[in-house]
Amino acid sequence: RKKITVPLLRKMHERGEPITMITAHDFPSAHVADAAGMDVILVGDSLAMVGLGMEDTNEVLVEEMLLHCRSVARATKGALTIGDLPMGSYEIAPSQALETAIRFIKEGRMHGVKLEGGKEMVPTIQKITSAGIPVLGHVGLTPQRQNALGGFRVQGRTTADAVKVLEDALAVQEAGCFAVVVEAVPAEVAAIIAKKLSIPSIGIGAGSGCSGQVLVQVDMTGNFPPGRRIPKFVKQYGNVWAESLRAIEAYRDEVKSRQYPAVEHTYPIKEEELEGFVK
Ligand code: KIV
Ligand code: NA
Repeated sequence: RKKITVPLLRKMHERGEPITMITAHDFPSAHVADAAGMDVILVGDSLAMVGLGMEDTNEVLVEEMLLHCRSVARATKGALTIGDLPMGSYEIAPSQALETAIRFIKEGRMHGVKLEGGKEMVPTIQKITSAGIPVLGHVGLTPQRQNALGGFRVQGRTTADAVKVLEDALAVQEAGCFAVVVEAVPAEVAAIIAKKLSIPSIGIGAGSGCSGQVLVQVDMTGNFPPGRRIPKFVKQYGNVWAESLRAIEAYRDEVKSRQYPAVEHTYPIKEEELEGFVK
């Protein structure tokens, strides 16, 4: 398939073609996302929660992200791959951020990185992009700051808050981001932000007015046990959990009842060889 690049995404944006983005956390989830023709594959730090069972995204380490980035990179033939800089790996100084970003390129084999934050991240984004590393911004709800925000809450719901999200988006654009994720913002606010930006905005819980959309793969494929709460903006396009459960239960039953393995699942041996062996 065709290799997606940053300039190609810009062209898509110019002709009004929506950009498709999904998370992947390992070789199989990247393989299927790439086969499905996703434009961008994000190794999100959502890995912490949906892939590693951690309480929140702040627990995941750079080394852990890099291991998963490498496995995603091995499976990806066409999509642009972006690695999420985890909390603590880029906030101290622009030089720290660039060092981490370089590790995501060299060790993680990613094409670019994503980082959360607005105006305050401008020097950091400038530093990373000055090394020729594409940076994806992330404004609105920034889960790494959930403790300061008071949880996973919708952002930009008052005039002042909406202005803040807009200013953050414009700031990261000015700093050199090739695109910006806009998370959990009222659709009308996100649509206006998309119009004011010249770079693509990738929405998640931000309505249809953005230049593209991103979802967490395990959420949208339904790869989680029934009863788990998923955000309102997620559309569940499949039920991978139910299909995996059905298959594994059928396997369990067939092993217990000695239906599996059947003859067709076994390796043959020549009659005379076998006779010699049994003797
Ligand atoms: O970590 C993640 O998966 C993300 C996307 C939801 C944008 O940041
Ligand atoms: Na993230």
